[in-house]
Formats: sequence, structure tokens, C-alpha cells
Amino acid sequence: MGILNRFRMEQPDDIESIYAVQVAAFKRTSEADLVNALRGKSDCLCSVVAESNGRVVGHCLFTKVKVTSPKGKFEAAALGPVAVLPEWQGEKIGTMLIITATNIVIEKGYPILFVLGDPNYYNRFGYSDASEFGFSCKYDPPAAAFMVAGLSPNVLHGKSGVVQYAKEFDALV
Ligand SMILES: CC(C)(COP(=O)(O)OP(=O)(O)OC[C@H]1O[C@@H](n2cnc3c(N)ncnc32)[C@H](O)[C@@H]1OP(=O)(O)O)[C@@H](O)C(=O)NCCC(=O)NCCS
Repeated sequence: MGILNRFRMEQPDDIESIYAVQVAAFKRTSEADLVNALRGKSDCLCSVVAESNGRVVGHCLFTKVKVTSPKGKFEAAALGPVAVLPEWQGEKIGTMLIITATNIVIEKGYPILFVLGDPNYYNRFGYSDASEFGFSCKYDPPAAAFMVAGLSPNVLHGKSGVVQYAKEFDALV
């Protein structure tokens, strides 16, 4: 019998497993501590786990970000951190986690999404260089590592500005 992977919202029993997954994936505690700091805050839009045979093997978050420019302000969602246990990487767990969480934040009313990460990974989900649309963030990421995606070209039309993450992210840099 094959084992189905399941992608679902975080539950209270998952807290320790999520911490362990984040530490194992990033090989440090910063991202795991960030997830703990964000838990329960209104800035945390969704926290999704990948479960295989009853074990949490992956985890990702979306948080609320505020975008400000001389033209005005709006809210959007930012993906990350995303983590999959090293022995489970390369099995499309990360892909399914991101797609599941993306659908949840879109349903919550966030058609504009940001991510900080490797363009070679995130461009497959529709993200592209945010600077080309006039977006920046204070973390000074490597070129093209700050990315944006919109549910349609219209939602990004005329939008630009400085993207402010939840203050808990400041501890990561
Ligand atoms: C990044 C991560 C979440 C991807 O999860 P995953 O389940 O291994 O991903 P998938 O199986 O869905 O996709 C695998 C693909 O992603 C690519 N990939 C994985 N990590 C990558 C990275 N950091 N940069 C670029 N590409 C990456 C693989 O080469 C593979 O490419 P292919 O489909 O062309 O063969 C996982 O590798 C991980 O936890 N890495 C450590 C933590 C991390 O770097 N998180 C992301 C921060 S930006």
C-alpha cells in the first residue's frame, strides 16, 4: 500500500515537529525561532505542514507584509520560511507545500505575494524579480532574490513600494 502525503494547516501538536523540520532544513535555529515568534500573531496568515505517514516532514508560512509608496499603502503576503527535512527533499514536498499555502492566502484575499529566496527555485511558482516592478525591502537581498507574483497582471499594475515584513523577521538578518 502506498502512503499518501497530506498538506494541512498547522495544529498545536505540530509545534515541536515544525521546529525540528526548520532546524534540520536550515542547519541553524534562526528560522525555527522565527516561526515560534510569529505563531499566533495576526501577521501570520497561514502555517502549513506536509505530513507523511503521521510525521511532519515539511513546513511553510505566509505572513502579512505592508507595502508603502508615495501613491499609497496596501497589504500583501510573503512566503517563508519554507523547509523540508533533508531526507525528504527532491520529492516535490516543497512544491506541494507552497502550492497549498498559496491557495490558502489567495482565498484569504491576498492576490500579491512576495518571497525572499533563490530565483531558480521560486520562479517555477510564478515569482519574478520584484525590483523590476519597483518593489524593494530593507533586507538588502542579493540581486533578483526578492521576488513578487500576482494572481493576474492587473493586480500588479501601477503598484510599487517598500515592502515591510513583520518585525520578527529583523532577527534573521
Ligand atoms: C528549498 C526546499 C524547501 C525545497 O523543497 P523540496 O521538497 O526539496 O523541493 P521540490 O522537491 O518541490 O523541488 C525540488 C527542486 O528544487 C530545487 N531546489 C531545492 N532547493 C533549492 C534552492 N535552495 N535553490 C534552488 N533550487 C532548489 C531542486 O534542485 C529541485 O530542482 P528540479 O525540480 O529542477 O530537479 C528544501 O530543499 C529545503 O528545505 N531546503 C533547505 C531550506 C531552504 O533553503 N529553504 C528555502 C529558503 S529560500
